[in-house]
Amino acid sequence: MTAPDRARARATDGKQTRRIAGGSGSDMTAPGRLDGPLLCVRDVVMRFGGVVALGGVSFDVEHGQICGLIGPNGSGKTTLFNCISGIYRHSAGDILFQGRSLTGLSRHRMAALGIGRTFQNVALFRRLSVQENVLVGAHHLGRSGFTANALRLPVVRREESRARARLRELLHLLDLETVASVDAGSLPFPTQKRVELARALIGEPGLLLLDEPAGGLNHAEVDELAVLLQRILGPFNLTILLVEHHMSLVMRVSQKVVALEFGRKIADGTPEEVRKEPEVIRAYLGETEEEAQHARFA
Ligand SMILES: Nc1ncnc2c1ncn2[C@@H]1O[C@H](COP(=O)(O)OP(=O)(O)OP(=O)(O)O)[C@@H](O)[C@H]1O
Ligand SMILES: [Mg+2]
Repeated sequence: MTAPDRARARATDGKQTRRIAGGSGSDMTAPGRLDGPLLCVRDVVMRFGGVVALGGVSFDVEHGQICGLIGPNGSGKTTLFNCISGIYRHSAGDILFQGRSLTGLSRHRMAALGIGRTFQNVALFRRLSVQENVLVGAHHLGRSGFTANALRLPVVRREESRARARLRELLHLLDLETVASVDAGSLPFPTQKRVELARALIGEPGLLLLDEPAGGLNHAEVDELAVLLQRILGPFNLTILLVEHHMSLVMRVSQKVVALEFGRKIADGTPEEVRKEPEVIRAYLGETEEEAQHARFA
């Protein structure tokens, strides 16, 4: 059974909730209960000295959506991810998650609130095994303090056993069981990407930021990824912001697409609307709409 098949089986068994096996502990309530968008990006500006990486970007992401974020190289996609996940402090504007401003919060606090991510170039501990890398993503779920850990109190053992149960399920879902004990750094790039995805998912995020998850994947693997993303969305109660150059993937899985160019938003709408937007066609190809449809959005 392939990973997407297993995701489908889980999606249709009627039992899966956002918490996977034994999961609980995040201080984030399940998203979807508050009115309004899950994520609001409001006039976000990010300057690096004289470089304006983001020049006042605004858009919303609704609960349960996959929102594609596209744009040519250097348009500010990763910079925006770094602002949302607390790696950069934006120079101006605001980012609201579940109606609450993230401005000034540490990246650890953001993870605890339910924002998970993967990285464009993969950021794993190369000398740690796959399972050790994945477990790193669960660290903020633990509620037991220093003393409880030092004394190995039952609460600590219960938390560990929940994390191990989630780990097993994710290794199974993402076809990583056979490499669970292998050093992450020795694995092919596409496999490392799946390890990063598992590490993000074990943290039980409500919002998952995926930075080019299809980078380095072959055609069949991209197809599998598309199926997987659509199938984990509901069962894991996720909302996904997806940065991708692979247009067919974005257009296939997204309910909404936002396009950036030189740090500014040039389009925002359904995939159908955005793919026809003259500014988007020009930004990518500088050609006619018809040629663009065939060349890039097929
Ligand atoms: N730490 C930084 N210091 C200085 N400039 C930066 C920094 N990070 C990003 N930039 C600049 O900000 C702009 C946006 O870069 P960013 O990496 O966000 O683009 P991107 O849309 O993710 O591109 P790609 O598709 O190639 O990944 C670029 O001009 C880049 O050089
Ligand atoms: Mg990038």
